[in-house]
Amino acid sequence: MTISRRKFAQLLGAGAAATVARPALSFCKPAAAESPAQFAGSSIVRLSSNENPYGPSRQALKAMSDAFGLACRYPDEHTGVLVESLAKLNAVQPDQILLGDGSGEILKLCAEAFTGARGKLISADPTFEAIVKYAAAGGAEVVKVPLTSSYSHDLSRMMAAANGGLVYICNPNNPTASITPKDEIREIISKASPQTMILVDEAYFHYADSPDYESVIPLIKDHPNLIVARTFSKIYGMAGLRCGYGVAQKGAIERLRKYQAWDSVNIMALTAAIANLNDPDQVVDGRRLNSEARAFTIGELDRRGYKTIPSQANFIMVDVKRPVVPLINGLKQRKVEVGRLFPALPNHLRVTIGTKAEMEAFLSALREVTGSTAT
Ligand SMILES: Cc1ncc(COP(=O)(O)O)c(C=O)c1O
Repeated sequence: MTISRRKFAQLLGAGAAATVARPALSFCKPAAAESPAQFAGSSIVRLSSNENPYGPSRQALKAMSDAFGLACRYPDEHTGVLVESLAKLNAVQPDQILLGDGSGEILKLCAEAFTGARGKLISADPTFEAIVKYAAAGGAEVVKVPLTSSYSHDLSRMMAAANGGLVYICNPNNPTASITPKDEIREIISKASPQTMILVDEAYFHYADSPDYESVIPLIKDHPNLIVARTFSKIYGMAGLRCGYGVAQKGAIERLRKYQAWDSVNIMALTAAIANLNDPDQVVDGRRLNSEARAFTIGELDRRGYKTIPSQANFIMVDVKRPVVPLINGLKQRKVEVGRLFPALPNHLRVTIGTKAEMEAFLSALREVTGSTAT
């Protein structure tokens, strides 16, 4: 069944629709196959948060509209259905899955359960910083180990610093979009002391297609100290709905669950996630559209003499060969929002891969800004 944007707005009701189509941001169309993100009332191009501009599956939008009548119910049954589906998808038992209010909640629970006030977190630098903040807020010691010259995690240095703490491996890594080779990850998992917990964040798993990349979920059965975090915010286009999950052995899941609020995933996110998983086109289309727009953007940048770190994700890190902050500000003035400054890479600009039209807007704004700020 098709559901037009207009119909969707009618279903939501005028007030709710106004909230969804926030005036300043692009509106996600119901289906990737239709025309992609459109601007609602303004022309801001948002390439700052590694979101998926095509949004969730059309079936997910319908499932949410069908679920409006369930708003007065707790989400128990839907939680069970999604857990079962994810267990099947990942070839694990349902008691090995913990849903979260975004995968960010899984990272927070890991910091709380495995670092606490006297523990230690070992992360790469630069990497996705949420868990660093959560661990530090809880009083843990944080050790940051710079990425290698090929932008992979320096796993031997990270493990040497671990000594019973929590090691966070973001693969593919945000903000560099680079991967850490599968053989290196396998090796450290097999050698790690059982007291050292290893959290692999696979938020961008679906975009990675390098033969050097793999998910470590199949290794969980042999490693009680391994946890994997996944999200519905990226390939499934549900960043605003908030749903993610952790996979681990039952014992680790139970340790995390103790710190979690009950029913932390809402019924809209659950119904959308279930429908998304049942749509075979969602991942295939999302990957294809991302890799086409990414290749186009990298090609254009290359023609202008800009190198990018090889990307295995829905964003790229561009070496702009000058301090990035004036460029970020200049792009913002031209209504193009890109990633913030990452202090470890002060001359690199992180830009999310949006639709081809959005990337054209970015490239044209970049041309204007580099023209006006050329050194
Ligand atoms: C590597 C990584 N992990 C986790 C998250 C958080 O995602 P979620 O929306 O599932 O909380 C992000 C968000 O951008 C991310 O880049």
